[in-house]
Amino acid sequence: MSRTNNRRRFIKKLSASSMIFGGALFSSCGSLKKATNKEYKKPLVISTWNNHEANQMAWDILNSGGAILDAIEKGIHIPENNPNDTSVGYGGRPDRDGFVTLDACMMDHLGNAGSVTFMSGFKNPISVARKVMEETPHVILSGIGAEEFAINQGFKRENLLTSDSEKALEEWKVKSKYAPVINSERHDTIGMIAIDRQGNLSGGCSTSGLAYKMRGRVGDSPIIGAGLFVDNDIGAATATGLGELVLKTLGTFLVVEFMRSGLTPQEACKRAVLRIADKYGGKDNQVGFIAIAKNGDYGGYSLQKGFQYIVHNSDKGVLFNSASFYS
Ligand code: GLY
Repeated sequence: MSRTNNRRRFIKKLSASSMIFGGALFSSCGSLKKATNKEYKKPLVISTWNNHEANQMAWDILNSGGAILDAIEKGIHIPENNPNDTSVGYGGRPDRDGFVTLDACMMDHLGNAGSVTFMSGFKNPISVARKVMEETPHVILSGIGAEEFAINQGFKRENLLTSDSEKALEEWKVKSKYAPVINSERHDTIGMIAIDRQGNLSGGCSTSGLAYKMRGRVGDSPIIGAGLFVDNDIGAATATGLGELVLKTLGTFLVVEFMRSGLTPQEACKRAVLRIADKYGGKDNQVGFIAIAKNGDYGGYSLQKGFQYIVHNSDKGVLFNSASFYS
């Protein structure tokens, strides 16, 4: 469907319950949901999907006084190390040529950021991304450069392609049809954002990207402002789903900017999803955003139903079914 048709459909859908006014969207209840001065419970950790174990690990570290970056890094290691998690780290599905290539990034409360893209052979790209942030003058290292850097930093090279992934690739090759699945395995990228007791925000994001992607493809997850963005004065956001849609709208930067303009994290995530729906339709794709505001408020929103996010602001995590644009 053409973009013009997409836009017509989008406006038609909105006109039933909303009006577009001066470029801003006003919901049927009459006004945008503005953030208040209320302070919410801290610390707080949120992850995309039902990454319960990862979120619990991060919460335990953060709540017991550990550093926020350690909490996020150790939390993200859980899906990265799990061979049964087919969209992150070890066991991640390969590209169409059989290579498992990983993307990850981290960003802290000082605005420091580090990222690795198109990196093969290391189970924990989130840790290499953290080293890029802490040990280099750069933000992104890619491909062979990222791998050489990882070796120099003491990371061990390993085979990430499991026999299960090899088998799945052979099955995929029968039709060789590239068609990203909505809510693939009900879990793709892990994006994790957190706020500590002092109100400082940080985040991390890690993925093997889309199964059977073209060799060299990099998604949104390692790109600051797309898969993850943190502005310690305002809030933090992270994304999951079809990276191309998030890249083309700089989705998490947009979420944080919507919070800067006074929207709650929930409303800001919704507005970023509406931007995608407006520009690209996205009817056959999934994108989900989660966000935390500086006051500890949080929220999430997705294009399609089925997106979930897990929240810890006490010892027991709570799993949310995200509200969505398409029902
Ligand atoms: N959101 C993960 C990717 O598109 O690579």
